[in-house]
Amino acid sequence: MEFTARLVAPERFRAGCVAVGIYDGRKLTATAEQLNGESGGALVKALGRGDLGADAGSTLLLQDVANLRTPRLLLIRLGAARDLDAATFRRAARGTAAAIAGTGARDALIALSEVDVQGCDLPSRLRILVEVIADRTYQFSETKSKKPPGRTWKRAALAIADRGDLRRAETAVSQGAAIAAGKALAKDLGNLPGNLCTPTYLAQRAQKLARGESKVTTRILDEARMRRLGMGALLAVAAGTREPAKLIVVEYRGGRSDRRPVVLVGKGVTFDSGGVSLKPSGSMDEMKFDMCGAASVLGTVRAASLLQLPINVVGIIPATENLPGGNATKPGDIVTSASGQTIEILNTDAEGRLILCDALTYARRFEPDVVIDIATLTGACVVALGHHPTGLFSNHPELSRDLETCGTSTGDRVWPMPLWKDYQDQLKSNFADMANVGGRNGGAITAACFLARFTEDCRWAHLDIAGTAWESGDRKGATGRPVPLLTQYLIEKSRSGTRRQSAAKT
Ligand code: BES
Ligand code: MN
Ligand code: ZN
Repeated sequence: MEFTARLVAPERFRAGCVAVGIYDGRKLTATAEQLNGESGGALVKALGRGDLGADAGSTLLLQDVANLRTPRLLLIRLGAARDLDAATFRRAARGTAAAIAGTGARDALIALSEVDVQGCDLPSRLRILVEVIADRTYQFSETKSKKPPGRTWKRAALAIADRGDLRRAETAVSQGAAIAAGKALAKDLGNLPGNLCTPTYLAQRAQKLARGESKVTTRILDEARMRRLGMGALLAVAAGTREPAKLIVVEYRGGRSDRRPVVLVGKGVTFDSGGVSLKPSGSMDEMKFDMCGAASVLGTVRAASLLQLPINVVGIIPATENLPGGNATKPGDIVTSASGQTIEILNTDAEGRLILCDALTYARRFEPDVVIDIATLTGACVVALGHHPTGLFSNHPELSRDLETCGTSTGDRVWPMPLWKDYQDQLKSNFADMANVGGRNGGAITAACFLARFTEDCRWAHLDIAGTAWESGDRKGATGRPVPLLTQYLIEKSRSGTRRQSAAKT
């Protein structure tokens, strides 16, 4: 989909479809009012028949309305004008996207950004429209033998009423489009099955990001290299599979060379069977999504490079399968991590923290400004928070607040969880420095507390995306989260980077 901000009088627009908003009580938005006038009252007449559904997001398609240049006019219910908040606006955007995609229109003009939405300025409204349209028109057909007919809808123009708004509208649209492209990459990788999306494949896709983009470089570390780096925890997970593990490092250098980077560490378990601590077979297929943290790192690097953000970003992805092969790690095995700390692996299904701890130790060599890891880490996080927010853990209150703000503004929400020392006791081992599991209670927190032992001297946040990275059931598929959150964080950071940097403790 190609997105543009257009300064255009909607009655002049020749697009295959023009979409306008209608409030409850047959109240017309400004553009709807104007088109109603041009067309001799066609909109009011249609609304009078009562065909537009009562819920926000309902749509009504009018064909060949007199005096308009477009063959299709789409009316979208926005609900009551004074209750219009971001969630309702999103619902209206989803309805709009679905309705337009259901027509044969090749291009559409959407005149929805003009409405007032609580807590949403014009750029936020445009970003919502772009992201929702991209989400709704996303298709994954790589693994179908018969390709569905490609989308007919190729161009979405977002109507801007005032010339004075054009510049910031264009910025918002390009940010939305870059985030959408990053999300699409994350979804594509997440949706691919484990037999195709192996650690080697992930490494190739990371290398592809660097092609033709001078600011991006990719380096792949193999198992021999990991052994020399002492990554006993990562290698313990890789021991049970024949697929070689990879440590993928992608660097985007858009900022000054003396600026410390934001390091993003993404869990890349391309299939998690649980290992010897084998998972039950119901829904085990969904463990192909256990690399969605890795996918979100690649998606975010893509978005940052599309936007040419003036910031340095390093993506680190420990990638492996977790299988119960003959050489697999056994419960009770003790390994030494790259940090030197020893770990008793009591449950081989708690593998995410094992690969992440070595990647987090590796992150230190980049002298990061902040480190953020992203992982489908625990089922317990889903029990605690459900599927709406990502679990947020951090040893740095300001970083935590910044991520919360970005989550709220993008709709890619996070919710803070405690990292109290009290929980550390649950990780005690009689034989090693720590165990890799802390029992059933507070499972998302003890997992985060495990990671905290490897990030003590840096500003760090952990995002547990187990509940938000994919959907199950009829709509089974990767969501592309938290690419919007992470990209927004980088956008904000590149704006305030210079100021913050000088205040940073080193
Ligand atoms: N990848 C899973 C976490 C997961 C499970 C995410 C289900 C989404 C849905 C992770 O590797 C795992 O297996 N975690 C265990 C940890 C336990 C053994 C302490 C879990 O959550 O059960
Ligand atoms: Mn597991
Ligand atoms: Zn896992």
